[in-house]
Amino acid sequence: MAINTPLMNVMTAAARKAAKVLIRDFGEVEHLQASKKGPADFVTQTDLRVERALREELSRTRPHYGFVMEEGGVVEGLDKTHRWFIDPIDGTTNFIHSIPHFAISIGLEREGHLVAGLVFNPIRDEMFTAEKGQGAWLNDRRLRVSSRRELSTAVVATGIPFLGREGHDEFLTELPKVMNEVAGVRRFGAASLDLAFVAAGRFDAYWERGLSSWDLAAGTVIVREAGGQVTDLTGGDNFLDGRQILASNTELHPALLKCLGGSAA
Ligand code: IPD
Repeated sequence: MAINTPLMNVMTAAARKAAKVLIRDFGEVEHLQASKKGPADFVTQTDLRVERALREELSRTRPHYGFVMEEGGVVEGLDKTHRWFIDPIDGTTNFIHSIPHFAISIGLEREGHLVAGLVFNPIRDEMFTAEKGQGAWLNDRRLRVSSRRELSTAVVATGIPFLGREGHDEFLTELPKVMNEVAGVRRFGAASLDLAFVAAGRFDAYWERGLSSWDLAAGTVIVREAGGQVTDLTGGDNFLDGRQILASNTELHPALLKCLGGSAA
């Protein structure tokens, strides 16, 4: 039994429709690997096509909501109380390299609070959903964050800043601190799925800097509805605009904050 509300039905229908474009183009990308130019330009078009499909579908039933989109930027809606956060392909570098770990991410903000999230990896047919008060789900299965209490048994995901991205020095300071405390560190390359995996208890925690609101909005609702904790790296609430995040179960959160140099409050 997944979430069966009008809102979630709108979100899942939009994601499934847009995913058809994504799956078709992923097949094409695999062929383009061997070409001289590679698939980068083609993928830019895919990003735009998927985002257009999502926007059209969501606007059909919620015509006045605003949008914050990776490609199209901010579009003000007539309804100032609702905004969609859209990432058409989270994990673009994976997609370009034919690595089947990427997702469509759709978050909804109502009156300044994130209230619903959907993260869909169409290749594995894994649809992560959450709505405030309705729990977090992977397809038809209810999710719960892990219950590990010791950092020494925890698997922690992160994002490594790439070429042209801020935060290289900060990351190189933080990584050894975490490496020395936990069982393992992973870098899978799609922030929305990193968060969804924390919700599913696959990862015990996830931290990253330099992120955008569309990378995070959906996943944070999913983690919270799975019983997890989400803050910025000082332990505060400014993760959406502050471009940094720590998500984990509540037992590990204070220890990880401390380890990363933030406050454990
Ligand atoms: C990126 C991915 C990646 C993270 C980057 C994001 P994009 O999103 O989520 O895992 O490390 O910071 O920008 O560009 O593929 O939508």
